Amino acid sequence: MSAVSSPFPSTIVTGGTIGSIIVGCKLQVLHGQPPEYRKAEILSIRPTPTADDATRCEYYVHYSDYNKRLDEWVTPERLNLLGEIEYPKLKKPKAMVAGIGKETGKGSEPGTPSGRVSKNNRKSNLSKAATTGKGGDAAAPGTPGPSNKRKAAAIEEGPSQAEGTNGSTPSIQVQGDDDEDEDMNEDIPSGTQDENGGVFSKEQEIEKLRTSGSMTQNPHEVARVKNLNLIQIGKHEVETWYFSPYPVEYAHLPILYICEFCLSYFPAIKQLSRHRLKCTLQHPPGNEIYRKDDISFFEIDGRKQKVYCRNLCLLSKLFLDHKTLYYDVDPFLFYVMTMRDEDGAHFIGYFSKEKESSEQYNVACILTMPQYQRMGFGRLLIAFSYELSKVEKRLGSPEKPLSDLGLLSYRAFWSEAIVQLLVEQQKTGIELSIDDIANRTAFQPQDVLHTLQNLNALKYYHGQYVIVLSDTVIKNSERAAKKKKREVDPKALVWKPIHFTATQLRFL
Ligand code: ACO
Ligand code: ZN
Repeated sequence: MSAVSSPFPSTIVTGGTIGSIIVGCKLQVLHGQPPEYRKAEILSIRPTPTADDATRCEYYVHYSDYNKRLDEWVTPERLNLLGEIEYPKLKKPKAMVAGIGKETGKGSEPGTPSGRVSKNNRKSNLSKAATTGKGGDAAAPGTPGPSNKRKAAAIEEGPSQAEGTNGSTPSIQVQGDDDEDEDMNEDIPSGTQDENGGVFSKEQEIEKLRTSGSMTQNPHEVARVKNLNLIQIGKHEVETWYFSPYPVEYAHLPILYICEFCLSYFPAIKQLSRHRLKCTLQHPPGNEIYRKDDISFFEIDGRKQKVYCRNLCLLSKLFLDHKTLYYDVDPFLFYVMTMRDEDGAHFIGYFSKEKESSEQYNVACILTMPQYQRMGFGRLLIAFSYELSKVEKRLGSPEKPLSDLGLLSYRAFWSEAIVQLLVEQQKTGIELSIDDIANRTAFQPQDVLHTLQNLNALKYYHGQYVIVLSDTVIKNSERAAKKKKREVDPKALVWKPIHFTATQLRFL
């Protein structure tokens, strides 16, 4: 016990003053409607820019056991200063709060643009630490601005997975026109990591992409404080969920304006309007490979449409957690789903897919924009990803780990599809094995197996496992089938898998 190392007699005290609250403290914070106290950790503190009292601060909190998307800035009044306050131990904070210290300090740093924040709570803070996602260093000198053309793409999380580059067959597919979008260079999103501040150099990043799958998570890069609170895209104002490495100077804006067609971003509505006079896009760049009713899918090659794909990664990072920054979108194809009206094809969601995945992943990253969630579009995206796998004659699976919402959606999708197949099959009297189900659906056998286990449908009978669906499962499936849903029509898919040559896969 090193009594000397802590400024507090014990790490947990009952009651405290607002001045004693520091980054790393855990205490009860009012949250939700109706408001109730939840344990939360203070991740950052900054002066309230609009307050007359210069000492008044606001607190960025993470609620224990809740998803990071609920993290928020709160006023001091929401902190329960009468209850238990757990202080961070002094020995550990250096490691634990290395970046956060900067965040906190940053709020009061001279020159910190705290005066620029908006009048309402929508203003956002982006400390250098938060921007880097690495604890502060990467956004320091040389922090990219809109004019900085360093490459960046926000991609995925997850444990390292072995991957090889095995494609060497000649390219056979050219469909439609696939305009380069380099004319959008003015809007190149700038990354926040560089060789000096980032965890990886570009070469290392590329090597990682080659060898580690797309979702390698680097824990040091998990930014803890959200930098934007609100974006406007098309007709929608959307609250953001997580940090995304937009240029640091955009972080203090009340709203970031995004062109819904090219996904370029602007600090003011005027600039967006001016951009729209020049930007002729009314749909994503790339090939329209599917059209049914008002829904279309566009296939976009990260190598050919770098700016668009980087913009897409930046946008999606706002809603995807723990995604590591990568410099290069080249190794991915992006499948963007749109809904068409007289104004154009509006962005609803997308999934990305590695051009070559030795793990047979058919989705790297999937997103439905929040304003369209819970309307069946996620299901449509997932269904589409498996239609592509069927054409490729491969079994596919989403790259792991899945987010909470990803898991819910995939489980729902797999269950519904498998139960429906088994119920149909029952009429024929021919039994299906797990491999049969996998081959019919293009799901990987382990996903079929896990789904059957989740449905409690695997029974050990006379020395072997058999698939048995309970009445409840069948009823639930019938109920789900009655819901009116958009389905993917395989006939509306005009697509041949692209085979990349070894040279095309050399992402330099
Ligand atoms: N709560 C409970 N169940 C849910 C929820 C939720 N918030 N969201 C989806 N589900 C389940 C439900 O069973 C739902 O069916 P129902 O609405 O009939 O009950 C089913 O999933 C399908 O829902 P959809 O409306 O088709 O899915 P949605 O358009 O909302 O998209 C998605 C799902 C893509 C996961 C979306 O929530 C999202 O973009 N989240 C943020 C990004 C993310 O987490 N992506 C997945 C990361 S993992 C990876 O990339 C491989
Ligand atoms: Zn545009």
